[in-house]
Amino acid sequence: MKIVLLGPPGAGKGTQAAMLMSRYDIPQISTGDMLRAAVQDQSPMGIKAKEYMDAGGLVPDEVVVGIVRERLQAEDCENGFILDGFPRTQPQADALKHVLAGLGKQLDSVVSLQVETEALVERLTGRRTCSACGKGFHLRYDPPAEDGRCNSCGGSLVQRDDDREETIRNRMQVYHQQTAPLEDYYRNEGLLAVVDGMGEIPAVQKAIVSVLQDC
Ligand code: AP5
Ligand code: MG
Repeated sequence: MKIVLLGPPGAGKGTQAAMLMSRYDIPQISTGDMLRAAVQDQSPMGIKAKEYMDAGGLVPDEVVVGIVRERLQAEDCENGFILDGFPRTQPQADALKHVLAGLGKQLDSVVSLQVETEALVERLTGRRTCSACGKGFHLRYDPPAEDGRCNSCGGSLVQRDDDREETIRNRMQVYHQQTAPLEDYYRNEGLLAVVDGMGEIPAVQKAIVSVLQDC
């Protein structure tokens, strides 16, 4: 199964990708997570990427395409993958098609999660992430058993730097300008499946699995 998850910031891409990863035993490839790891390591690429991420803008195409190209060649992608947060621009979508063609592969489905703006802001402001294992929570919709502690590993829960309200607004705007047009791009390729992302987390998972059964 070779899937792209499309959707605005806070739509639930990471949450759903983690569940699909265990269900189908394929890796989640999140460019956001990979870039945050590079920022944490203070690698030259991470230092550069941080400027764009803190402002809520997009990291240059050539940087993210390079990361994804390398990741898709890894052995664990042999049976499929879930791309979470990539592609985000038309040049990235073109590059993805090219890289996959070179590997003799093509996408099976592009799932676009639809969530209203007010719900997105509420999801992002309430999001907490484990600083040790990266597991995501939400203070109201998916709270940890113990305040501030990860259920899985006991690590401390932190708020993402780009989840401040003014950065969230920029990220939304960038999504509408640069990423939303990819819906038409993939509709034209016959790959787009639109899924209502407003329900509870398990209900959204069920809806995604149902569209994936048809591809
Ligand atoms: P990235 O990390 O990809 O962020 P994003 O796309 O803005 O999306 P989020 O991770 O914020 O949201 P999500 O859809 O994963 O939602 P989640 O499941 O966590 O990118 C960050 C930055 O990196 C970008 O701004 C850019 O600078 C750079 N970048 C990354 N990829 C790039 C690329 N390809 N090109 C260029 N630059 C790139 O859910 C959110 C919260 O809601 C959680 O708390 C969760 O528990 C809760 N929740 C989830 N589902 C539900 C539900 N159904 N009901 C209630 N709550 C829910
Ligand atoms: Mg995410």
